[in-house]
Amino acid sequence: MITHKWWKEGIIYQIYPQSFYDSNGDGIGDLQGIIRKLDYIKSLGVDIIWLNPIYASPLDDNGYDISDYRAINPIYGTMGDFDEMLAEMHKRGLRLLMDLVVNHSSDEHKWFKESRKSKNNPYRDYYYWRKGKNGGPPNNWPAVFGGSVWEYDRTTSEYYLHYFSKKQPDLNWENPKVRQEVIDIIRWWLDKGIDGFRLDVISMISKDLVFPDATGENFGEMYTRYFCNGPRVHEFIREVHDKSLKDYNVMTVGEGPAITKEAGNDYTGQNRGELNMIFPLDLMSADWGPDGRFDPGITDRRKIKSFFREWNEALGDDGWMSVFLDNHDSPRMVSRFGNDTTYRTESAKLLLTLLLTLRGTPSIHYGSEIGMTNASFDSIDQYKDIESLNFYSEAIKNGMSDHEAIRRIQISGRDNVRTPMQWDDRNHGGFTTDTPWLESNPNYKSINVEMEESDDSGILSFFRQMVAFRKSHKTLSYGSFTDLDPDHPHVFHYQRKDADAQFIIILNMSDHTTSYAINQAGAHLSICNYTEAGKREELRPWEARIYLTAI
Ligand code: GLC
Ligand code: CA
Repeated sequence: MITHKWWKEGIIYQIYPQSFYDSNGDGIGDLQGIIRKLDYIKSLGVDIIWLNPIYASPLDDNGYDISDYRAINPIYGTMGDFDEMLAEMHKRGLRLLMDLVVNHSSDEHKWFKESRKSKNNPYRDYYYWRKGKNGGPPNNWPAVFGGSVWEYDRTTSEYYLHYFSKKQPDLNWENPKVRQEVIDIIRWWLDKGIDGFRLDVISMISKDLVFPDATGENFGEMYTRYFCNGPRVHEFIREVHDKSLKDYNVMTVGEGPAITKEAGNDYTGQNRGELNMIFPLDLMSADWGPDGRFDPGITDRRKIKSFFREWNEALGDDGWMSVFLDNHDSPRMVSRFGNDTTYRTESAKLLLTLLLTLRGTPSIHYGSEIGMTNASFDSIDQYKDIESLNFYSEAIKNGMSDHEAIRRIQISGRDNVRTPMQWDDRNHGGFTTDTPWLESNPNYKSINVEMEESDDSGILSFFRQMVAFRKSHKTLSYGSFTDLDPDHPHVFHYQRKDADAQFIIILNMSDHTTSYAINQAGAHLSICNYTEAGKREELRPWEARIYLTAI
């Protein structure tokens, strides 16, 4: 029997704070801006807000490089603004998840500033310091954002480890003092009354201390083999849980790079004392080639189906996952999995139907409820993300043309999904009165909240309808999930079922009308993303249907 929990029934709305709403006209979204939009968020029917990092940070990786875990970055406001925001959320029945980034800190955190001073500084062991090998770094691993994972530091003639940028040194979780710092930070925020955490790259916190050289693996293999799921990862998470999380009624979702299906329940099984759920990432990289993100291919629709089918089978009734089709690290879902031109409305609605009928806690990235699309900027000057900028300079150095490098960033770069929220058709989509920190997608004139609000058959109305539908049928949260047609190349046909009801969901993930046998005697068509009635056994492009059968 599956246990019922509020966090299994919740729906997460993700806010990228820089880009949501700018209240004071400096071009950067802020906490007062979020407060002004809480009624909008509440009106969606969602109930959990996940905020990307808002702590003090030099913003080398947009806040995933924290220099003070107990301070708010002044560009977003003050701790007073934070307290007000939290109170306003709670007043509306909205819960808040903060992003906890403790695999690494910023190099501007006081721990690291101390650590690099001398080999016997009390903070030296807060990070991984190693001697070089044969005149170079200690091993040959490449960092996620380019270059080596090791950076040489002249003061002590040693290298420090950084899986991401050199301004994100990895914290040494082998050191019990580091673990205690993390526990103290968690308790400090939970005592303030927040409702949980999203734990950044949690599968990376334990390292293989041998740091063996990689032997010709491609990036994905290397990442899986060496960077993630280290020997003490479960022990570390359990310690954090036992000394902090378990004392509070909060939720945790671990970001899970390279967490395999077999290991899902080791992180989320109900008796493990670790995490409530994870974000499995394999679908997010399903279309990457051997060289990773900037080597993009096409997502075979069967991979989307097998991802959900296999994760469901693996977790069973014991573990739990959050389901999502985009986030701040991926392209926009309608651009990646749908058709963001001819069938933008239909395919956005289909993807929202998918998201809200899966088993797992759905998480939606701001703007996808109105079908925002990839920005696909043409010039490197328009991009801000360190990952894209580093890729571009390395690619150009290695002889790739500007045209080809930009083409790849247009498909996969993370700025695609970080552009300002499109509120209305005024300058910059009504996000700011100044110049936004990242350009708005020029299509804000035709894609924005204001227009959607006045369209009963728009994407936003459909999203609200789907959220309400999920909330009124617990079967959609807890019922079993069965893929009824795993082999079809583009129709996704599955069942959600428990003792109360049975739903049949049919999604035509293609630009083509498709004949499809639907044998649902007695079934009632509850939801369809087309307003006009169609033929029973013919699915229109990107048509989504939900049939309900009483039991
Ligand atoms: C996670 C975050 C990503 C960040 C990285 C390093 O993957 O989602 O945005 O760049 O961790 O913290
Ligand atoms: Ca601002």
